[in-house]
Amino acid sequence: MAENETKHEEFTLQESRVFQPPAEFAAKAAISGMQAYEKLCAEAATDYEGFWARLARENIDWHKPFTSTLDESNAPFYKWFGDGQLNASYNCLDRNLANGNADKTAIIFEADDGTVVRASYRELYERVCKFANGLKSRGIKKGDRVIIYMSMSIEGVAAMQACARIGATHSVVFGGFSAKSLQERIIDAGAVAVITADEQLRGGKSLPLKAIVDEALALGGITTIRDVIVYKRTGGNIAFQEGRDTWLHELVDGQSAECEPEWVDAEHPLFILYTSGSTGTPKGVQHATGGFLLWAALTMKWTFDIKPSDVFWCTADIGWVTGHTYIAYGPLAVGATQIVFEGVPTYPHAGRFWETIAKHKVSIFYTAPTAIRSLIKASDVDEKVHPKNFDRSSLRLLGSVGEPINPEAWMWYYKNVGEERCPIVDTFWQTETGGHMITPLPGATPLVPGSCTLPLPGIMTAIVDESGADVPNGQGGILVVKRPWPSMIRTIWNNPDRFRTSYFPEELGGKYYLAGDGAIRNKDTGYFTITGRIDDVLNVSGHRMGTMEIESALVGHPMVAEAAVVGKPDETTGESICAFVVLKQARPSGEDAKKLAAELRTWVAKEIGPIAKPKEIRFGDNLPKTRSGKIMRRLLRVLAKGEAITQDVSTLENPAILDQLKESA
Ligand code: WT7
Repeated sequence: MAENETKHEEFTLQESRVFQPPAEFAAKAAISGMQAYEKLCAEAATDYEGFWARLARENIDWHKPFTSTLDESNAPFYKWFGDGQLNASYNCLDRNLANGNADKTAIIFEADDGTVVRASYRELYERVCKFANGLKSRGIKKGDRVIIYMSMSIEGVAAMQACARIGATHSVVFGGFSAKSLQERIIDAGAVAVITADEQLRGGKSLPLKAIVDEALALGGITTIRDVIVYKRTGGNIAFQEGRDTWLHELVDGQSAECEPEWVDAEHPLFILYTSGSTGTPKGVQHATGGFLLWAALTMKWTFDIKPSDVFWCTADIGWVTGHTYIAYGPLAVGATQIVFEGVPTYPHAGRFWETIAKHKVSIFYTAPTAIRSLIKASDVDEKVHPKNFDRSSLRLLGSVGEPINPEAWMWYYKNVGEERCPIVDTFWQTETGGHMITPLPGATPLVPGSCTLPLPGIMTAIVDESGADVPNGQGGILVVKRPWPSMIRTIWNNPDRFRTSYFPEELGGKYYLAGDGAIRNKDTGYFTITGRIDDVLNVSGHRMGTMEIESALVGHPMVAEAAVVGKPDETTGESICAFVVLKQARPSGEDAKKLAAELRTWVAKEIGPIAKPKEIRFGDNLPKTRSGKIMRRLLRVLAKGEAITQDVSTLENPAILDQLKESA
């Protein structure tokens, strides 16, 4: 952790611009003004359990009301609303049929080629019920794990909802992951079925999905899969295995459009979502039905100030947590109309986001800094794709997620997309937190570009030093959450020990949730700025990746002896991957080095997925190590940046190799 202390210096820059919430926005907001925010914080501070119990009763329809709010008897395996029963799909669908939203549009599907398909709440309900009955007809039941390996589609959302309806725990695997990554997740989850599509369409191209599922299942080691259910998206040619594979349209054909929801305990695992940590194997982050659903609904109201007339658009993929909380569950739990977008921001042109906002009169737009930065670049090159050419008058709120947003990108987003009238919510959270943690409230919080401002009411974030003691404002440290909250990770699937040691380390007293990020609070305002990960996790284009995962993929290549991966700051993607590689043979140079680097990149794409491809590969005879053999990553980070080495290298066993590692292949 100490290695990253220096990082904080970059963030103590004074940002003096402050943007007050527009009066008109604040007047109508769910949380209006800082006093309203402080009142909620005070309520949580006075009666923590009472606060959450009230919100859980107000925001969720319980089949069986809970009497116990927070059970800390087996900390850090906390239980929330433990004796209550509910169903997430009931709360997202049936509830909207009962409260007058039946004919309201739930999903506007914007296909890659611009085709639009709408589904009302009633239609979505019927689709999910048929899907759920179809799953049941294949013997899939409560407690089973189901892998969803799908592109962005109404069917993808329906698949998640159908699992929730029957009490099966879904685990969505992002469609960009390789067969090997998919295989590992299927095995770890012990899944009984995979729901996929024949192919996916992105940027005018069709890419395989079913073929990758076939490949994953052929890799071996999988004993639990009985069914592969295939949604026909493109009609492309795919192999079909009798008995195992079923078309979705055939599965749902003739099924009843009613399906009694399976009532589950609040702690029943709604989903497992794999994410990267500091070791080679991804962690199956397990979320509980009750707490997660409360968070999805509540943050739609608090952070997004959702109103019945809004058109909400979160551009994330359902393969990431953002697509779980703010596509598959949150918008539906509050009866909102949302866009589900299949395509990419640059097809058929880099104005696609702004064009789509105009086309569907989007009022709340939620995207990642990487996308904003790449669209800034694109509109610098081609003025025709600049947001000013598209009608943005429908917008009233903008959001940012996944990585720090730099003040320049924030200002561009504020001015050119939001016309200086839309607040921006810079939402800090993680796969493990289930939803927003530190974020402005658009009708209350004065905004400062580059700061995610203050924690949500009831969220007890703090910055501590390495012994767990609070540090004063203005001094960087480790971001922790001091009290459990409803939507927190419950455990790591199959690995409770790793859960405890990763998130509740003894060094910090064993009681604080360790986020894995560094942070600093402003001296005057107490506002938080996230300074980046303090572990070996990278954030490339808002995608989270473990350096160890990439390293083990590299050393899996027959020619590689050793590899170390570090992040390098990147103007567009936030961070980029730089790999230092030692071969079993002599260090290559010139064209040979280039050819081998290309081969290693393809190798990593095949092992993990294209998102994990190193941007740069550097070959050395060795890696910089201390005399005890520890790789000096701090030095590698300096080398990756191309900066001169100023630190003491006297403990370095082999200083001569530093020169070799300065050049990319
Ligand atoms: C990591 C979590 C948040 C859901 C999608 C990513 C970084 C996330 C912000 C932000 C600064 C951010 C952190 C965090 N991060 N949002 N607004 N400002 N950093 O979830 O894949 O679990 O990644 O993303 O480093 O730990 P994830």
